[in-house]
Amino acid sequence: MSKVELRGVTKKFGRTTAISSLDLCVEKSEFLSLVGPSGCGKTTTLRLIAGFIRPDSGKVLIGNKDMNRVSVKNRDVGIVFQNYALFPNMTASENVAFGMKARKAEQGTITTRVTELLEMVGLSAKATSFPNELSGGQQQRIALARALAIEPRVLLLDEPLSALDAKVRNTLRFEIKRIQQESGITTIYVTHDQEEALAISDRVALMNSGRIEQIGTPGQIYSRPSTLFSANFVGVNNLIKGDYKGNEIFRWAGGTVSAACSCGLKPGRCWLSIRPEKIKIEKTEESQSNSVSGVCRGKIFLGPLVRLAVESYGEMFLVDLLNENLQEISTGKRMDLYFAPENTLLIREE
Ligand SMILES: Nc1ncnc2c1ncn2[C@@H]1O[C@H](COP(=O)(O)OP(=O)(O)OP(=O)(O)O)[C@@H](O)[C@H]1O
Ligand SMILES: [Mg+2]
Repeated sequence: MSKVELRGVTKKFGRTTAISSLDLCVEKSEFLSLVGPSGCGKTTTLRLIAGFIRPDSGKVLIGNKDMNRVSVKNRDVGIVFQNYALFPNMTASENVAFGMKARKAEQGTITTRVTELLEMVGLSAKATSFPNELSGGQQQRIALARALAIEPRVLLLDEPLSALDAKVRNTLRFEIKRIQQESGITTIYVTHDQEEALAISDRVALMNSGRIEQIGTPGQIYSRPSTLFSANFVGVNNLIKGDYKGNEIFRWAGGTVSAACSCGLKPGRCWLSIRPEKIKIEKTEESQSNSVSGVCRGKIFLGPLVRLAVESYGEMFLVDLLNENLQEISTGKRMDLYFAPENTLLIREE
């Protein structure tokens, strides 16, 4: 279990700057997710930590030790990739044992550890199966057990669940979290699924063009996006263009809105952000301060929720409501929306 640190790391491939002066510190036993759009540098970051590639400048440290001259094998890092990559000619238990054998562990130790790990991932019954006799989810569990077998100090997971269907993903993501909590291994988890990142991480680092755009707990990332990119990337958000007038007053095409205190924001062009679930269609004690009138342009069913699209002064507000007593709302209906200042956030225009 070691701390992982990148200090001012830059990595270029020809003319492409994949990683640009990146600073990142993952604490000992922390579960950190890297999320961000395709090509933003997530895999490159993992490859730099694992040692498959070296930084052009800056440093990678594991357990406070500079890894510049340390080979992949000596970094004590376990890696699980998207496409399982099990050895097809080896059984599940031989796959799990592979790393320990390569490190010349004693046979007794190997047998005990393999039994333990297969139990941990719930596949004791499949010990003698070959990869082609296992489902995708089972193969991914074996890949995880194989990565854990060498008792790595750091576990790197690159979209390990993306090839699986939604149900298996859900089960496995909680299993990964449980195993990480039990073992206390410092874990860096790459996913493009931001919901997954919010669900299982201690902290989330949102990457954009080779840099970290925002880092924080899932709650902070969701409720306090610090930039327009964060507000757009994580979850569904209403972003209304207008002007900050000072004194917590925001003006847009539809009038003025009392917004939450926006520390340090200077008057000028900005965005008002409000999550769909924070908008109400009835006046309540908490939501009465701001109201906007509009016309319902659409209604979609989301299981427990119904999402309305309400047009007002050229902006479309998405509103998520519990799926109860909403029969009377249909397309074309005029309606008022209410929301409280403390549920809004003002974001500077970049
Ligand atoms: N070996 C390589 N040679 C050339 N360019 C590369 C190489 N590896 C990565 N890149 C480039 O570096 C950038 C970052 O790539 P990276 O694979 O880290 O992205 P990513 O965030 O993992 O994306 P995805 O979500 O699609 O997996 C991209 O522009 C990519 O084209
Ligand atoms: Mg990638």
